[in-house]
Amino acid sequence: MKNIVLTGFMGTGKTTVGQILAEKLKRKFLDTDQIIEEKLGTSIKEFFKKAGETKFREIEAKTIALISNIEDAVISCGGGVTVNPVNIENLKKNGIIINLFASPEHIFKRLCKDNTRPLIKQMDNPLEGIKKLLSKRQKAYENCDFTVNTDNLTSEQVVENILENKLIKDILK
Ligand code: S3P
Repeated sequence: MKNIVLTGFMGTGKTTVGQILAEKLKRKFLDTDQIIEEKLGTSIKEFFKKAGETKFREIEAKTIALISNIEDAVISCGGGVTVNPVNIENLKKNGIIINLFASPEHIFKRLCKDNTRPLIKQMDNPLEGIKKLLSKRQKAYENCDFTVNTDNLTSEQVVENILENKLIKDILK
């Protein structure tokens, strides 16, 4: 059966929603950032410092290509995965890709005390930076199969929303 893939900007709840969804559907749960960190033996934050974003994107794309062969999983992807069309192509081969959306203000509220996201850390004005990066990535996120607006929803409500979508209902039949 097809995978259910979650993506969307940092701080939209992909990991939490993915874990709840996987538990509910009795599917295995995979988190690309977690897999990459295990593979690298270091945190993404440290890897960005040591090797830079370009190298990270290479490793991320290889990881996506590998896990796209898996079946029956719920997969949470890092927020930059959809920016590379090859990743989308790989994930769509055997998966429905869901974009979790949140407004810049909500993302800022969720991430302002977070220290683990290198892209946010390097922003002089995080709210403005989030707005810019989100709008730069908007087109890429629109290549997903459907979007759920997570503003004002609990993680459980996001899961309910996903399960009500026809594309998901069809693969769970
Ligand atoms: C990134 C998002 C992060 C992580 C890395 C880069 C991005 O994952 O992959 O810091 O480019 O948006 P989360 O979306 O899980 O925070």
